Amino acid sequence: MKVAADADRLRREGVDVVDFGAGEPDFPTPDNIKKAAIAAIDANFTKYTPTGGTLELKQAICERHHADYGTSYTPAECLATVGGKHAIFNLMQALIEDGDEVIIPVPYWVTYKDVVNYAGGKCVFVESDEANGFTFTAGDIARKISGKTKLIIINSPCNPSGGVLSREDFEKIYHLAVKRGVQLMTDECYCRFLYDDQPFSIAAMPGAKENVVIAGSLSKTYSMTGWRVGFALAPKPLIDAMLKLQSHTTSNPTSISQKAAIEALLGSQDSIPIMLAEYRRRRDFVVQRLRAISGVKIAEPRGAFYAYPNISVGFRNGIASALQFSEKLLSEAHVAVVPGEAFGTTEHVRISYATSMKELERGLDRMDRFISGRV
Ligand SMILES: Cc1ncc(COP(=O)(O)O)c(C=O)c1O
Repeated sequence: MKVAADADRLRREGVDVVDFGAGEPDFPTPDNIKKAAIAAIDANFTKYTPTGGTLELKQAICERHHADYGTSYTPAECLATVGGKHAIFNLMQALIEDGDEVIIPVPYWVTYKDVVNYAGGKCVFVESDEANGFTFTAGDIARKISGKTKLIIINSPCNPSGGVLSREDFEKIYHLAVKRGVQLMTDECYCRFLYDDQPFSIAAMPGAKENVVIAGSLSKTYSMTGWRVGFALAPKPLIDAMLKLQSHTTSNPTSISQKAAIEALLGSQDSIPIMLAEYRRRRDFVVQRLRAISGVKIAEPRGAFYAYPNISVGFRNGIASALQFSEKLLSEAHVAVVPGEAFGTTEHVRISYATSMKELERGLDRMDRFISGRV
């Protein structure tokens, strides 16, 4: 948010800024989804709905999840929320008591840390292996489990690294969680954007529903960030607790967005492979360009739409951290990236390639010149 604000200020001053900061698709919301929302307005579907979303929407969420991953959730185990972030917030408030520990692999999506802290929990971080595409193993997590551990958070594909856990590693982490009596939250926000592997959900394993909470979002999959629709799939007692909280805070997700979401989930899925193919093309380009900059290291992203290069080669001339690097890159080369400090590391920046090839070319040219000292 700070990067976006600084970039915005420069732009208003007339500076030509290339923005790699945005964490949202640059594609428009598909037409069939927009039409469903317009039809909802025309039909006056503009009033309160049940707090956790209409039955029709919850059924659509369960159906889509079944069709994509083979799970067997029912509407009683489903809560529609105001974006995926809301599902995660409600979960932490419902599940985490003062002093509970939550295991979070690094780098992590920035929100996890703050919502865990806000719920009174304590974050326990697990380093991931950069040389291995920012992955981690059940063994890495096991070493951090204590008597106070309540939850393990897995985000694969990962924002910011694009790292993807293999099914085998994910299953081992699941078995570990069951053995140690710890809940597992899987943030499936980017699950449909995988470049090499087949999408899967850990909740499809036999018996897994008891131990797993899914945080889902329509934001990225259907390019619907502004519509604010997400969901949780979880054991019913947990859903009931989250619902209680939601009934006294936001109430239902917007009625119109719910109708749009039903169309997104049950209508044509054709936009997803089209977006994925374009993201892959951009991913390849970004990786190739970053690798060509002397001293920059980049683990190839295997999912989502972010690259997370190690730019410590640029730590000179008063730059000693990713934050300072990002500030100077913006003020001197006019490229906005997000510094790794936001995600728990100090030598990386996040580049979002949810932007046009033309912008990627311009921005990477500038980064190349900046890092090579030619700006
Ligand atoms: C890893 C991850 N999870 C969840 C979300 C939540 O998205 P939303 O609240 O728009 O559904 C995001 C958004 O950037 C994300 O990157």
